Amino acid sequence: MSKTIIISNRLPVQLQISDGGLSAIPSVGGLATGMKSVHSGSESLWIGWSGLTDEDIPDGLSETIDSALKQHGCSKVKLTKDDVDGFYFGFSNRTVWPLFHYFLEYSEFELDFWNSYKAVNQKFADAILEEAGDDDIIWVHDYQLMLVPQMVKEKRPNATIGFFLHIPFPSYEIFRTLPWREEVLEGLLGADLIGFHTYDYERHFLSSVRRLLGLDVSFNDIYLENRVIKVDSFPMGIDYNKFHEAAKKSSALKGKQRSDLQIKLDEHKKSAPDTKLIVSIDRLDYSKGIAKRINAFEYFLNKYPEYKEKVRLIILAVPSRSNVPQYMLLKREIDELVGRINGELSTVNWTPIWYFYRSLPFENLIDLYTSSDIAWLTPLRDGMNLVAKEYVATRTDKTGVLILSEMAGSAYEMNEALLINPNNFEEQADTLKQAITMPKEEQMARNMFLQNRLKRYNVEVWANEFMNSLKSQKQGIGTYVSQKMNNNILESVSVKYRSAKKRLLFLDYDGTLAGFHKDPQKASPDDELYQLLDQLHQQEGTTLFLISGRDKETFSRWFLPKKYNMIVEHGVWISKDGEEFKLLEKVNGDWMEKIQPVLESFVDRTPGSFIEEKNYSLAWHYRNTDPDFGNKRATELNTVLTSLIGNDDISVLNGNKVMEVKSSNVNKGRASVRILSEDDYDFVFAIGDDWTDEFMFQELPESTITVKVGLQKTQAKYHVEGTKKVRELLKHFINL
Ligand code: ADP
Ligand code: G6P
Repeated sequence: MSKTIIISNRLPVQLQISDGGLSAIPSVGGLATGMKSVHSGSESLWIGWSGLTDEDIPDGLSETIDSALKQHGCSKVKLTKDDVDGFYFGFSNRTVWPLFHYFLEYSEFELDFWNSYKAVNQKFADAILEEAGDDDIIWVHDYQLMLVPQMVKEKRPNATIGFFLHIPFPSYEIFRTLPWREEVLEGLLGADLIGFHTYDYERHFLSSVRRLLGLDVSFNDIYLENRVIKVDSFPMGIDYNKFHEAAKKSSALKGKQRSDLQIKLDEHKKSAPDTKLIVSIDRLDYSKGIAKRINAFEYFLNKYPEYKEKVRLIILAVPSRSNVPQYMLLKREIDELVGRINGELSTVNWTPIWYFYRSLPFENLIDLYTSSDIAWLTPLRDGMNLVAKEYVATRTDKTGVLILSEMAGSAYEMNEALLINPNNFEEQADTLKQAITMPKEEQMARNMFLQNRLKRYNVEVWANEFMNSLKSQKQGIGTYVSQKMNNNILESVSVKYRSAKKRLLFLDYDGTLAGFHKDPQKASPDDELYQLLDQLHQQEGTTLFLISGRDKETFSRWFLPKKYNMIVEHGVWISKDGEEFKLLEKVNGDWMEKIQPVLESFVDRTPGSFIEEKNYSLAWHYRNTDPDFGNKRATELNTVLTSLIGNDDISVLNGNKVMEVKSSNVNKGRASVRILSEDDYDFVFAIGDDWTDEFMFQELPESTITVKVGLQKTQAKYHVEGTKKVRELLKHFINL
């Protein structure tokens, strides 16, 4: 039976050695707490770091650790202290984390960190390769392991690999500052499905893929030569029932059954019944905006002094990454801020801020959520923020107000919360007042919507949606409509080829026989191609036609001495057996002088684009432009041309990074059908890669073997992956 392999840096439990013994504590952080609910039973194995380095583990304890982890369905990746320093404290948390959260000034670009990141990612990939069977599904998590998908795909090309990023993916302008940006993208593209929390992160990622790798992206599919990768957003949910039920259970406890913390909170409420408790819970991280929140609280108390002694802010900051300098500085800053504000504003009866710097057990977390009238979460940037969702889930009587930063991924789904900009103190002060005075009915109405949504789209649904999407992506459902030219099909096509007496082959050039080049003139045929074409050309019973949108001068130079048959400019000109080109279609080129200035104005405004002038057509090439910008301009040009042309004599063809304006009565379909009608062929074959070839696929008779190069949607019957495969296919025809 196939299993799911979850792989992340953090396991759901962290091991600690104290007094020679081993203890396991639950991990904090959205990834571990969320995925814990998905990871269950024998069908799932979770691979990750135990929290202990090789140096921490005394001789003989390794096996005890393995069996302790096994009880939790986990298996460890061994990391040395140097690994953890370079990969975890270094590249993950001093380079990627700040960069992806838009703290560019905190990002350190150290080659040693990067080398360690690569080496440790390889260790994780090796751990997967050791455990994974052929049918298993591999789900890689988060920014610490962005190279793992490619490392696994390289060794297991058929593996099903998903990747989910739990933090924001920054805009291209930020991401491109990373010295190893291409490697990181290529690492991720080893996956079959890449998931993000929000559409914005997805959009930023696709933009970087287009601009930095120059890959084709259509909607949310990325086209590689031999695969299509899907990118999508899946906002992570929580285990709603777990939080809701825990809250119910906690409120049913009486007297001494209650936790010490709950007893303290209840005493406080009893002594000051009209005081409001505001809670904030985060890892101590600069992305969470804790210091700003404390400053905003002071601002609020000064703006609305009537609330002094009437509200209390409880800050639970969970220690995190304390070896990283920025986190140490932040700890000091917050200690000082809390000290100063409490020192300045406290009265005999009142301390404005209760500050806890520790990790509390789950029960205490629930106590804090259920006892607080308001949750105030102000991240400056946050991939999702599950605490916001957990607070709402624990409000069993539906009261309570959530104030949430717009910069958190969860804000997109929690419109009924009070959304704030964490940098705007004025707005926050007013929002706090609104929350404190919000009538119960309004609180309940807002929370009802929020709870229904959280209940429905819980973490299990989230994981299932990701998994289903991954599986259907892998099966190729909805990706392409043609069949892959596999060995069986190739064999049956070869049988037909062999038994045929008169064969006719139409071969497109760019993107089919030869790859693309920045300068089209440089994409000239190589020796291997000449040899291949020579052999086909000389084969008895075979008529070969090169059929292209290229101009006749270029093809004359490249192929006329070879005497191959050629159709160029999409069907305007024809040359047979080495004769000069002749007109195949009567065409009118009067329109060209009107269209030329329009194209020129697009060239002027689109750096990197240029016009190719042919005898009866004009082509605007935009392969070398900024990909996003080029696509946008192409759409614009299409609109302009369509409105200008306004009659049926001229048409616009959208090719592969080229838009061509030409007479409507010319296309490869019409030209190929004309050639076909000149003789009695019993085997017809057409192969090409772009829209201009679709005319052949459509117009040639049903019995034609039509082959698309690439994975885009097509009318062709079969597809092959790239130019390399085209040549292999043609060699097959030669070596029958
Ligand atoms: P991040 O992933 O950046 O830490 P999230 O808000 O998405 O932020 O996730 C934090 C998770 O950590 C929540 O699921 C929360 O319940 C959990 N958590 C926070 N504090 C504690 C704590 N003291 N003990 C245990 N779990 C905690
Ligand atoms: C965030 C990250 C997780 C990480 C967690 C806790 O949620 O997305 O990958 O595990 O913070 O951070 P830590 O460094 O302790 O693992």
